[in-house]
Amino acid sequence: MKETILTGIRVNSELTLGNFLGALVPMVRLANKYSKDYNVNIFVPDLHTIISDVDGDIPSNTIRSLKYYLAAGLELNENIHIYRQSRVPAHSELCWILDCTASMGELNRMTQYKEKSEGKESVNVGIFNYPVLMAADILLYSAKYVPVGEDQFQHLELTRNIAMRFNNKFGETFVLPVKTSDQVKFMNVENGIRIRDLLNPEKKMSKSTAAENSKIMLSDAPERAAKKIMSATTDSLGKIKFDMFNQPGISNLMQIDALVTDSPLQDVISTWSGETHYGDLKAKVAADVKVFLEEFQNRLANIPDEEVLRLLEAGETYANEVAGRKLAEVQKAVGLR
Ligand code: TYM
Repeated sequence: MKETILTGIRVNSELTLGNFLGALVPMVRLANKYSKDYNVNIFVPDLHTIISDVDGDIPSNTIRSLKYYLAAGLELNENIHIYRQSRVPAHSELCWILDCTASMGELNRMTQYKEKSEGKESVNVGIFNYPVLMAADILLYSAKYVPVGEDQFQHLELTRNIAMRFNNKFGETFVLPVKTSDQVKFMNVENGIRIRDLLNPEKKMSKSTAAENSKIMLSDAPERAAKKIMSATTDSLGKIKFDMFNQPGISNLMQIDALVTDSPLQDVISTWSGETHYGDLKAKVAADVKVFLEEFQNRLANIPDEEVLRLLEAGETYANEVAGRKLAEVQKAVGLR
């Protein structure tokens, strides 16, 4: 049995450079390196998408988002499976069964839930239950490696806890995804990736931040994206050092540069450490982001919708088979069959 690498990105809107560099590009690089020997599942969590408002419509956003993987250089073969969560009913069904193992307390502790519900009078149950559906997405396919950005690590740890508890109670049923420290090693990055807001680098870059200059969208004109990098907030310490805590702005730029040029972060850090001209670093990162976006957007324009639709058809047949088998095993374990 091949092991599985799996990831998903919601399609509420256009993606930011944060989603792209934090999850999509690492996934494409892993897929290209390992897909001969692993199953690589790339799915669209469209049920997770409807927890909040959607810009545009889900079918078009889905096609666009899947084209991003191809434009980022994903090399297709028979081990790569692409599907929509809503077309595989086992996800929702397993979510319910796992709901009966997960506790209110552990879901209440999820940082993302706290952030999304803070100050709101009313919050939908989907936002609260979202990590359990995510656990179902992962456990149905026995995925060991789940390349995601750092903000999703807590949900991965929760998935492990839910799976462990289930296995203890009902017998060995689920394969656990590896610990986040080992996910990071597999992704060949130093730490979990968190691309920062360009104007307010204490925060992560997010599609929901209003200020246009705080985020780079994948559809930004490359020249405009370069200008956003040039106007990024740094600090007044005057010496370049990779230190996300004390110098998050300048460190974020080094992180972005490493990812867009596919270079080890350590190499970028050694090139710039100790330099005093922040403008030189910004100009280099701006130029690299510009080239990266130009190449990406050119490739994107040449991918027909039909290519993605074909992939979905094959992928959804595969996903229903694998997930259906696991769901039947789970139903048996809990006594439903
Ligand atoms: P979502 O759609 O919010 O984000 C998609 C991916 O992008 C990463 N990301 C970032 N990485 C680095 N820097 C940033 N600023 C940044 N912003 C976003 C996220 O960490 C994520 O990897 N729950 C997931 C989707 C999901 C999923 C799954 C993922 C549902 N089921 C199963 C993996 C496996 C989510 O909402 O991600």
